[in-house]
Amino acid sequence: MNIVYETEVNRCLLCEDAPCSKACVYNVNPADRIRSLYFENEYSAFKNFNNECDKCEGFCEQECVLKKYDKQISIKDLMKHLGDLKDNSEIINEDFDVDISSEICGVKLENPYVLSSSVVASNYEMIDKAFALGWAGCAFKTICLFEQHEASPRFSVLKSRTGSFFGFKNIEQLSDHALEENLIVFKELKEKYPSKVIIASIMGRNESEWEYLSRKCDEAGADVIELNFSCPNMEDGSLGVTIGQDKELVERFSIAARKGTKKPILAKMTPNVQDMLPYALAAKRGGCDGIAAINTIMSITGINIDTLTPEPSIRGSSSLGGYSGRAVKPIALRFISEVSESKDMKDMHISAMGGIETYRDGLEFILLGASSLQVTTAIMQYGYRIIEDLVNGLKNYMQLRNISNLKQLIGGSIGNIVELNQLERDTILFPKFNSDTCIGCGRCHISCYDGGHQAIQFDKETRRPKLLANKCVGCHLCKLVCPTSSITTLTKRIKRRD
Ligand SMILES: Cc1cc2nc3c(=O)[nH]c(=O)nc-3n(C[C@H](O)[C@H](O)[C@H](O)COP(=O)(O)O)c2cc1C
Repeated sequence: MNIVYETEVNRCLLCEDAPCSKACVYNVNPADRIRSLYFENEYSAFKNFNNECDKCEGFCEQECVLKKYDKQISIKDLMKHLGDLKDNSEIINEDFDVDISSEICGVKLENPYVLSSSVVASNYEMIDKAFALGWAGCAFKTICLFEQHEASPRFSVLKSRTGSFFGFKNIEQLSDHALEENLIVFKELKEKYPSKVIIASIMGRNESEWEYLSRKCDEAGADVIELNFSCPNMEDGSLGVTIGQDKELVERFSIAARKGTKKPILAKMTPNVQDMLPYALAAKRGGCDGIAAINTIMSITGINIDTLTPEPSIRGSSSLGGYSGRAVKPIALRFISEVSESKDMKDMHISAMGGIETYRDGLEFILLGASSLQVTTAIMQYGYRIIEDLVNGLKNYMQLRNISNLKQLIGGSIGNIVELNQLERDTILFPKFNSDTCIGCGRCHISCYDGGHQAIQFDKETRRPKLLANKCVGCHLCKLVCPTSSITTLTKRIKRRD
């Protein structure tokens, strides 16, 4: 999408019960279309779009709530852009049937998307709402047999320049409801939604507690048990991540949980280790059927430089806390890829999470071997409604490529991740400048000079860059900083000079 429209889409507040759509007299529903653009689901954004906005005075813009604070969103321009996108896009064969169902060790999921164990899956009302909107299952907030004493405040964020959460830190522990209360919720949810999948996340302090909790959750109707070996926020420092960093404990507590149930068990792994595989294999030895990863990354999101207190500040102090959201996706992808490429993990289910906001994010984990996907931070920020674009985006992607079954995509990229010494290093791919779309900002020149190899000349008269091929090493920094995507690459690779 063009940078101007992208910025405008990112400025949209994605309002509840959006006044713009309510004001629309042509049933265009701009709010849902902009939301689909926001979540990278372009096809749904322009599906069934007949641009009648030209005829309208723009009642939608007049109702935009942003007007009370800033300039309203240019909805009419965005809708015009949608029309252009539609005209220039490939047509999807919507009659082509795609099956996006998946499974966790034989337990069927209507789609791969599940609420991950956290505040977003804490009680009946929340999960009822999420299921009704289309989530295929939920990993319930971790259940234990001891009381929680939470700190306030308990979150802190790193924001992107447009204001959305980029990274999210929490210092929250486990469910603040008693075991019996949570078990009743499982039963009620299972009664109302027999085909949705309930994953009971549990944490014990010793073997008998792991066994007891897995048995109780099984009896209450949970379909899958998830062992929380990874919460980094426990007041009792011997629990959570401390267990997940000890292979013997992982194996021992997996064995204990296995005694309580014959249902599938996933071990929820911590990314706060050098290599996740040995811990995943310990869980396998203990009888687990798969892993769920990643839990949050131990972090400090920031220090207030006026008060010298870390965030979130609790009477001037804070602790390390779990980092999640978009910022952690690259780290989560790395762990999923390392675990799934191991032959010893072939029969183990992989339930992936860490920064999933859009269908593209989820698909990346599927291509690296995950069969189910879990989400928390994006829901905390945008709500359960993101499921619509997660599902439709995935379906559109598959229809466009004539892929009938999600299973065809699982692990599709694994072979493309190789050791560093296996990469071809004899040729260079040069950048190619499109002077028609270049707006002459000179950012490519600045970055190439100060952070690259001084291979771009910038003509101050024409305000256009020129490549100095004898200096270019083909690093593509220029392409990455270009705000208008006016730098692409040549198709032919050139032999590297020595
Ligand atoms: C506020 C909050 C509470 C969480 N509580 C739990 C929990 O009780 N049990 C658990 O296994 N993971 C918990 N998590 C971790 C998430 O399930 C998930 O592994 C992590 O946030 C990465 O996914 P995301 O980037 O989609 O949020 C929590 C995360 C957050 C942000």
